[in-house]
Amino acid sequence: MKYVVLARSTARALFTGGRIYHRQFSTVTIARQLEKEATHHHGGSAFGESGSFWWRKMSSLPEIKDQHHSEEKKKEDTTTTNNNENGVVSSYWGITRPKVQREDGTEWPWNCFMPWDTYRADVSIDVKKHYVPKTFSDKVAFRSVKFLRVLSDLYFKERYGCHAMMLETIAAVPGMVGGMLLHLKSLRKFQHSGGWIKALLEEAENERMHLMTMVELVKPSWHERLLVITAQGVFFNAFFVFYLLSPKTAHRFVGYLEEEAVISYTQHLDAIVSGKVENVPAPAIAIDYWRLPKDATLKDVITVIRADEAHHRDVNHFASDIHHEGKELKEAPAPIGYH
Ligand SMILES: [Fe+2]
Ligand SMILES: [Fe+2]
Repeated sequence: MKYVVLARSTARALFTGGRIYHRQFSTVTIARQLEKEATHHHGGSAFGESGSFWWRKMSSLPEIKDQHHSEEKKKEDTTTTNNNENGVVSSYWGITRPKVQREDGTEWPWNCFMPWDTYRADVSIDVKKHYVPKTFSDKVAFRSVKFLRVLSDLYFKERYGCHAMMLETIAAVPGMVGGMLLHLKSLRKFQHSGGWIKALLEEAENERMHLMTMVELVKPSWHERLLVITAQGVFFNAFFVFYLLSPKTAHRFVGYLEEEAVISYTQHLDAIVSGKVENVPAPAIAIDYWRLPKDATLKDVITVIRADEAHHRDVNHFASDIHHEGKELKEAPAPIGYH
């Protein structure tokens, strides 16, 4: 009977567009108990290690639930139908969102990243560092980026926000392509990647978070969306082939792209300081992702994004240098978590 009720409720959820994974009364109850335990044993913060502790605890929830909450589960099964009508459904698969809080006790509002994914950007990084092109391939990479820079300046002129938003749609591609190709190589060759898959995918995710932040400030027009679709189609495929042919030059090219991103964000900061661009309050997503103060502004956001770009610059020039020495990336320590 229990399975009939569950199957019926799951089918109803599918047909009514309900979200299956979002509700599990007994799990939430245990989550609250675990939260109390975590608070008692770990000092009460949902951030950092406590957050990880939390997630580990949550992953073992189905077992705990079976042991201690059969009564409550029965009750849940019989009340599922009613709750479906409110847009919440039974977690048939045992997948629930962990109950996570900010440091101030308010509920964590994001599903796309968790408190333990957040960080304070190292803004002390040298934003003026430049890799002087040495080899022919370095010069090709440098000149190609400078050529693209001229085109983008002609198109965007002084529309800093729009420029940043469009730049991020491209900047988030190389890390994903590089990470994906290293992943496939690891599978093909039965060998470790030395952490470089993770490092490059982290870079892609970090760039995507830049985009998710910028899109809160600038709304793309239909023709800009069309341009992004076209540019992504061309750039993804071109970079894919480029990386297959020469990862050394591809990473050098990205290193120079990141140098240009640092320059663009420096100009953006100058425009904010001079009053050309209004220093509006920081979007909520940026405050949580970079652990900024609640009264942070656009200037703070651009400062941390620029620091991220400087880190990506270093990672990619480093990767190119490894190849330049005739080595594979896995032979050097991957800069995982380098922000
Ligand atoms: Fe970026
Ligand atoms: Fe970047």
